[in-house]
Amino acid sequence: MRERPPAPPETGEKASGKLWGGRYSSGTAPAAERFTASLPYDRRLWPQDIRGSRAHARMLAGQGIISAPELELILKGLDEISAEIEDGRFPWRLEHEDVHMNVEARLREKIGAAGGKLHTARSRNDQVALDMHLFVRDAVDGIQQDLHALQTALLEQARSNQGTVLPGYTHLQRAQPVALSQHLLAYFFMLQRDRERLADCRRRVDTSPLGAGALAGTTFPIDPDSVARELGFNRRYANSMDAVSDRDFILETLACCSIVAIHLSRLGEELVLWSSSEFGFLEMPDSLTTGSSIMPQKRNPVIGELLRGKAGRVAGAFVGLLMVLKGLPLSYNTDMQEDKEGTFDALDTVSACLRIAAEVIAASTFRADRMLAAAAAGYTDATDLADYLAAKGVPFREAHAIAGRAVARAAAEGVPLGELPLEVLQGFHPALDGSVYAVLTPRSGVGRRTSPMGTGPGPVDEQLSLAADLLAAPPGTVSWVSTG
Ligand code: ARG
Repeated sequence: MRERPPAPPETGEKASGKLWGGRYSSGTAPAAERFTASLPYDRRLWPQDIRGSRAHARMLAGQGIISAPELELILKGLDEISAEIEDGRFPWRLEHEDVHMNVEARLREKIGAAGGKLHTARSRNDQVALDMHLFVRDAVDGIQQDLHALQTALLEQARSNQGTVLPGYTHLQRAQPVALSQHLLAYFFMLQRDRERLADCRRRVDTSPLGAGALAGTTFPIDPDSVARELGFNRRYANSMDAVSDRDFILETLACCSIVAIHLSRLGEELVLWSSSEFGFLEMPDSLTTGSSIMPQKRNPVIGELLRGKAGRVAGAFVGLLMVLKGLPLSYNTDMQEDKEGTFDALDTVSACLRIAAEVIAASTFRADRMLAAAAAGYTDATDLADYLAAKGVPFREAHAIAGRAVARAAAEGVPLGELPLEVLQGFHPALDGSVYAVLTPRSGVGRRTSPMGTGPGPVDEQLSLAADLLAAPPGTVSWVSTG
C-alpha cells in the first residue's frame, strides 16, 4: 500500500531550505546539490569571505543603509562565526552550496533579521570575486617571500662556492668551463624575473570588485571606494560587468606561477642529473632523499624529480582556467566556479616547491673535485684554443677548424689538448707556441672570460653584488643591467 503523500510544502525559502528559495516550491535533488556545491573546496575562502563581509557591513552602516545597532550585531555574529570555524565547531552544510551562503545562513541563525541585511547591495557574484582577489593577493605575497628565500639560498651557495669550476653544457654536451657561481646565479636571475612578473601582476590582483552587485551595480547609495580602501585595495574596477566577469587576475597569476614552476622543473632536473653517479656533482643530505624498497644502495633524488613533475599540474591549472573562460558570455556564469580548485592547488604547489627547493639548495654539497675533473676531461678548452689563434690574427673560422683537428688528434690519443706535445700543436699552426698551454685549463678558461655577463671573476662579482641589491629591493625591481 502506498503511503499517503506528504502534505504539500509551504512555498518559499522554507520549502527549498535555500536562502534563494523564495520562488521555489521544492528542494534541490541531492544529486544536483552534490554536483553543484562548491563548499567542499571553497570553504577555505572563509577568512576572506568574513573579512569582506565585515568591510561591506561597515560601509552599509557608514552610508546609512543599515543602522549602527544592526552593524554591531552583524560584526559580533561574524566574530562568533570566525571562532566557530577556527575551532572546527562550525556546522558546514552542503545544502547551502558554498562558503558565502553557509556564513550568511549561520549569521541569520545567530542574529536573526539583522543577519538578513548583510547581503543588501551585494551579490555572491561580486562577493566571490572579492574573496578570490583577497585570496590570490595573499598567495602572491607568500610566493614572493618563497621566491626570495630560494634566491637567498642560491646566492649563499654562489658566494661560498666561488672558485669552483664545472663544465657548462649546451645540448647536454660539455661546452665550456664555467664558474659554479655563474650557474647558480643564472637561477637567481630567472627567479628575479619571476618576482618582477608577479609584482606587476599583483597590481591588477589588487583591485576591488565589491559594489558591482550581481552585474549592474545597485540602487543603494554605496561607497565602493571606502570598502576597497578598508580591504587594502589600491584600486577598484571601473565597470560592474567587468568586475564580476573578470578572472584575468587569476589567469595571469597562474601564468606567472607556471613560469616559476617551469623554472623549478629545470632546477629539479639538474638536481637529478647532478646527484647521479654519472655526474656526481652534488650530494644531497640523507634527510632530503629517499631510499628504494628493493635496492639497498639507492638514494633517490625524489625532491628534484617532483620539482620537475609538479610543473605539470601548475601549468595544467593555468590551461584549465583558460579553457573554462573561453567563450563565456558576460557576465557571471557558474562555469566560473571552476576557477577555484586548480588555482588553490597551483598556488599551494608552487609555494611548497619553492620552499623545499630552498632547503635542498641550502643543504646540498657541491663536489668541486668532480666538477673540475669533468671540466678538464671534455675538451671544454677547445674554444680557448681557437680563441688563442684568433687573437693572434688567424680568422676565427680557420682557428675553429684547426682546434677541431687538434681535438680529433687528442681524442685519438686519449689525452687532453694540454697534453699534446708542442711539436704536434705547431704542426696544426705555426702561431701556436708554448704560451698556449696556459689557456688550456678549465680554470684559465673561466678566469679569462671577463666580458660583461661572463663567467670570469670580475663579472661574477658584479652579479653577486647586483643579486644582493635585488634581494634588498622591492620585488618588482628589474634584474637586467641598464645599458645607459
Ligand atoms: N560558489 C560560487 C562560485 O564559486 C559563488 C557565486 C555564485 N553566484 C551565483 N549567482 N550563483 O562562483
